[in-house]
Amino acid sequence: MQAVILVGGQATRLRPLATNTPKAMVPVLNRPFLEYVIRNLSRHDVREIVLAQHHLAGPIEEHLGDGSRFGVSIAYVVEDSPRGTAGAFKNVEKHITDTFIGMNGDIFNDLDITAMLRFHREKNATATIALTPVEDPTAYGLIETDTTGLVKRFLEKPSPSEVTTNMINAGTYVLEPEVLGQIPSDVQVSIERETFPLLVSSGKPVYAFSSSGYWMDMGTPDKYLQLHRDLLAGRSTWYVPGTDAEVLIGEGCSIDPSAEIIGPVMIDDNCTIDPYVRIVGPVVIGTGCVIGEGSDIEDSVIWHNVRLGSRVKLESSVVADNCTLNDNSVIEGGVLGDHVTVSAGASLGPGSMIELGETVG
Ligand code: GDD
Ligand code: MG
Repeated sequence: MQAVILVGGQATRLRPLATNTPKAMVPVLNRPFLEYVIRNLSRHDVREIVLAQHHLAGPIEEHLGDGSRFGVSIAYVVEDSPRGTAGAFKNVEKHITDTFIGMNGDIFNDLDITAMLRFHREKNATATIALTPVEDPTAYGLIETDTTGLVKRFLEKPSPSEVTTNMINAGTYVLEPEVLGQIPSDVQVSIERETFPLLVSSGKPVYAFSSSGYWMDMGTPDKYLQLHRDLLAGRSTWYVPGTDAEVLIGEGCSIDPSAEIIGPVMIDDNCTIDPYVRIVGPVVIGTGCVIGEGSDIEDSVIWHNVRLGSRVKLESSVVADNCTLNDNSVIEGGVLGDHVTVSAGASLGPGSMIELGETVG
């Protein structure tokens, strides 16, 4: 089975975390996000993966290589200009040999792809779209079906008054190669706004496969942080990082015995935790971080090589690579891009988004 993963979007809603890191490579529990997507496909016997890339293509190939580490082979195709979500599938047409999985590259889910394929074949569908329930469909693609699962309407980013169901496009499809025949070449085309509505209106058998398993689009800082909370709380059935409330510590760490660490907490290799630090999970700390004396961290994700001075307070925040948070600074509900410096005593409140390289306070 083949899968095409779309990883070429601009990821503007995930800034400042995705300013110079591709969304697909943003670390989740200290591993690049795309590794989870590939592992999940591999679990369902997908062996060939095509990555449809545009924005920030280089680091993905550098990290994943030929895919053999994950039991898959990976081909890379880079669009010379962004082709949109349908144009990106069209652009990899020469790699497609049969029915394939198509998917957004920013979704963590528990979808049973094997069962979805079976359903697609039973229905003799041209396309099958995975559905998931959400509280507010306005940020997604709303899908109306009949009682047999046949898709009647696809409405991308509905306004509140257009919401008729809480079932949305979960961003994973089973597609017949003939779908690619409906997409023009070399232009920008949206599968959500153009291709699916066209297939539905022309009476093609487009089916919906509902799943109530864990699902998250990690494309905003809030959702990214929530994904960490959920995975650490064991809400995914296939990926469980450790038992609930566990404290997982990597190699080469130096943790002062006076530090208080309450799980679920993951601390990666070569970190230094100074005296009287208090860490209350869910918290993830990347490699090579230094947490200064008396600092207090709760409900946060810290990437690699971050330095916290003394008595820093960090809560419900995300701090990207190589940041420095100086003594007595307070960050609550903040999101810091790479190489940000927070001055001593500075205070950042909810919604603070600090771009790459800035100094604040
Ligand atoms: N190669 C390529 N080229 N990839 C692209 C392009 C492009 O021009 N544009 C977007 N992508 C990729 C993104 O990188 C992402 O992995 C995926 O396509 C979806 O784009 P998003 O920008 O994340 O879309 P969304 O979250 O607003 O909405 C989509 O996902 C929802 C589920 O999370 C839609 O498919 C909705 O219908 C759906 O409900
Ligand atoms: Mg998305």
